[in-house]
Amino acid sequence: MVTKDEKGRLLEWDRTHIVHPACPIGQDSKGILFEKGKGVRLWDTDGKEYLDFTAQFGAVTLGYGQTELVEVCAEQMQKLPHSTLYYGYSHKPIIECSMSLAEIVPKGLDHFTFTTGGSESVDTALQIARLYGNIKGKCETKIISLYNAYHGGFIGPMTLTTVGRGSARMGIGPLVPDILHAPGYNCYRCQMGKEYPQCKIECAKYLEEIILWEGPNTVAAVIIEPCQSAGGGICPPPEYWPMVREICTKHDVLLIADEVATGFCRTGKMFGVELWNTIPDLMTFAKGITGAYFPFGGVAMSDKVWSASEGLFLPTPTTYYGHIVGAAIAAKTIEIYLRDKIAEHVVEVSKPMYERLEAEFLPLPCVGTLGGYGLFRVAVEIVADKTTKRMFEPSLNLMNKITVEALEKGLLLRTCTGADTQGDRIILDPPLVITKEEIDKGLDILYAILSKIKCD
Ligand SMILES: Cc1ncc(COP(=O)(O)O)c(C=O)c1O
Repeated sequence: MVTKDEKGRLLEWDRTHIVHPACPIGQDSKGILFEKGKGVRLWDTDGKEYLDFTAQFGAVTLGYGQTELVEVCAEQMQKLPHSTLYYGYSHKPIIECSMSLAEIVPKGLDHFTFTTGGSESVDTALQIARLYGNIKGKCETKIISLYNAYHGGFIGPMTLTTVGRGSARMGIGPLVPDILHAPGYNCYRCQMGKEYPQCKIECAKYLEEIILWEGPNTVAAVIIEPCQSAGGGICPPPEYWPMVREICTKHDVLLIADEVATGFCRTGKMFGVELWNTIPDLMTFAKGITGAYFPFGGVAMSDKVWSASEGLFLPTPTTYYGHIVGAAIAAKTIEIYLRDKIAEHVVEVSKPMYERLEAEFLPLPCVGTLGGYGLFRVAVEIVADKTTKRMFEPSLNLMNKITVEALEKGLLLRTCTGADTQGDRIILDPPLVITKEEIDKGLDILYAILSKIKCD
């Protein structure tokens, strides 16, 4: 129990000593101290209950208080809390974890390197791609990512990231050289001013133009999210990924799928690329691999990349590489995904969710379009004018107001603004074990908020 006075003191210390992501230094906090969770519910130190429609950036896939994962963690910590993989030493959990991964990754991607999270996975993939480019005799090793992409918070991933329109990297340059950007795949707000399907997927074709103008022998890799995550739950048209795969194969450029947000059942498939029937050369993963019970991630590699690297040192950046506790939890998490048919559950509960969003939310004057896939970043785009797709004035601070009102009503959700992405979007990303009744409860709260918004 935290008293009112103690809470005040803790929050004041927090405000003056702790950096919070996406929050200016010294700004007042939300005034909430989360304390415990069970399933899809959270409680703060005042005993207030919240329905969590964020899953902490989509990571808490199996919900809070998952006892099997807690037990595996405690057991492994007691037996052996850490054991390095450096110099060829190994341990059973990492071997079992990679065997489980090999069962579920897209065909042929069954060689692995491990990390402590998504940004590190992307940074590692970037290094592997450059190494591979050098092995293949490319004269330069440029990497191409998309506009409106998010790939993480280290300097490599941040150079790849364009969400925030440069604001996230302001003042930290120089950035990593030889990283280029191509148009993204948002059909509601096409960056090339086209309409789908008459566009014939101009954005994918433009990517090939970039490769050709730069010279295929100077481009090591293209990195793309199966659907854009922090970009607002934007999914490409079905033709996009197969076209990009063909372009990359044709010009001998590696295709990296960043599955950090889409991986592990969130879209209703084990990995997002399965939605598009495409097999990349490298695949980054994190978040759902341990359901957020341990910071863990990695990169899956094709045989082509693995064989070419034979005898070389691949990047393995940290002391905690292939962490034994993370590996044990990951193996258990994958077992639960398969045993409890979590991907099938996502399809089952997300179908009526989208039906309700289409029937009740889309007709609202302030709802322009919907986004997401399965329970991946289910998005409701808010507009001031449906015909012109005009956004509300940023000075109204509407997205923040929606977040705060939802919080007051016991619903934790995320929003992104048009200033950072391409539109003002409410993002619903609950734990994958959510029930239909819990989804309805969250949507009831959201509907009550959105139906009051006046459009001009
Ligand atoms: C697609 C994608 N890549 C990379 C990252 C970075 O992962 P992490 O926050 O675990 O470093 C994220 C995080 O949301 C992501 O969505």
